[in-house]
Amino acid sequence: MSTSRGGFSSRLGFILAAAGSAVGLGNIWGFPTQTATNGGAAFVLVYLVLAFCLAYPAFMAELLIGRYGQANAVTSMQKMSRTQWQKHFAFIVGFGGIVCAALILSFYGILAGWMMSFAIEPVTSLLGFNQGSTWLTSQSIARNLIFTALFMLLTISIIRKGVEEGIEKWSKRLMPMLIGLLILLIIYVFTLEGAAEGFSAYLNPDISRVFEPGLLISALGQAFFSLSLGTSVMIIYGSYISKKENLVSLGAQVTLIDVSIAFLAGLLIIPSMYVAQSQGVAIFSDDGSLISGPNLVFDVLPTLFDGMGAIGLFVGFGFFVLMSIAALTSSISMLEGPVSFAVERHDVDRKKATTYVGLGIFALSALIVLNFDLLFGLVIAISTVYGQPMIAMLCCVFVGWIWHRSDILEEIKQGNDTVQDTLFWKIWPWYTKFVCPSAIAIVFWHSL
Ligand code: PHE
Repeated sequence: MSTSRGGFSSRLGFILAAAGSAVGLGNIWGFPTQTATNGGAAFVLVYLVLAFCLAYPAFMAELLIGRYGQANAVTSMQKMSRTQWQKHFAFIVGFGGIVCAALILSFYGILAGWMMSFAIEPVTSLLGFNQGSTWLTSQSIARNLIFTALFMLLTISIIRKGVEEGIEKWSKRLMPMLIGLLILLIIYVFTLEGAAEGFSAYLNPDISRVFEPGLLISALGQAFFSLSLGTSVMIIYGSYISKKENLVSLGAQVTLIDVSIAFLAGLLIIPSMYVAQSQGVAIFSDDGSLISGPNLVFDVLPTLFDGMGAIGLFVGFGFFVLMSIAALTSSISMLEGPVSFAVERHDVDRKKATTYVGLGIFALSALIVLNFDLLFGLVIAISTVYGQPMIAMLCCVFVGWIWHRSDILEEIKQGNDTVQDTLFWKIWPWYTKFVCPSAIAIVFWHSL
């Protein structure tokens, strides 16, 4: 840990912060929606395989780049470069990741704002402010701007405090709350009629669907989004880890937490859909496809909560607070990427850099809100469909083809003396050099 630029004070601090970045709306909203859209358990199975076989190796590459460089994404990758063209390439990849993080935050902040407004709605309902409740749950420019601004202010206020006092402290507070809330909600939904049917749809895979190209592409995209790859975020978090830590096992633990929480979120959402169906809400159309798709959490779940009577207000509140917390621990990591770049490369004071970068990203969010039909889908596509896989692939190319194998070993050995004799070291370098970039490129090509 470099003391002048801050760093995580403990192993747990890193695990919770990195898991906080990974666990977000992608897990609790994206994963169950994709699962429901792509044939239930078959998607879950493919997702698990791809997360461990492709996303985890790429995740390790990013963590290693950061811990080696002990700096923001651009500087870290430039430290690994020996020639001038490699330095330019490093700039493009590192800066590309930073731009990607900023773009993702610009739409993520809007989504997170919706989660916050839906979390407040049960409170206004309880107090009898019906007009307020309707405003909070209806699309409007004013609501979107206000709640995106509130969410960005929360994100900025945490990042202004720095790594240990901001990111680590808040991840340690918020992550246990998130896991506790998730488990409580699952237990509750399981007591309801219809949940058992959802449980079986979630856990019995239709193996014939496993090799469908569309399903593979969605599962890989989901795994990359979920581990925050290709955005410079894991490089910068890697740079805050002490050289005494064993990166191989830290990376595996974060991947395991991320995947487990996505799995748990599925256990909550899929049975909830079937509970809602047994209460008369239309979930699937005649051909078996999902009716509301991405609107699942805003249409189906609130109807389910309404049907529960008074307790539904508390369950709805708990659910959307859970969503807001998950979004916040991810958004702070997205803001840290560009902020660390501004602080380290342009010598700007951290607090000032956070405020300026945060406001700049909010301005972009406002632009999206004002031109929603035109920009919302476009920014999501540019950053997550094209940007993330491309940058993640280039990071693997960097580690596999530009960084010397002996230098990688020296770095990875710190905190893990015997890594040379492990299966990880026998497989991972080749894997990152050949398998990861080609597999990402193939899937990417298909998605075009
Ligand atoms: N991994 C986060 C999620 O699942 C999203 C994210 C993407 C966070 C990119 C940081 C960078 O919601």
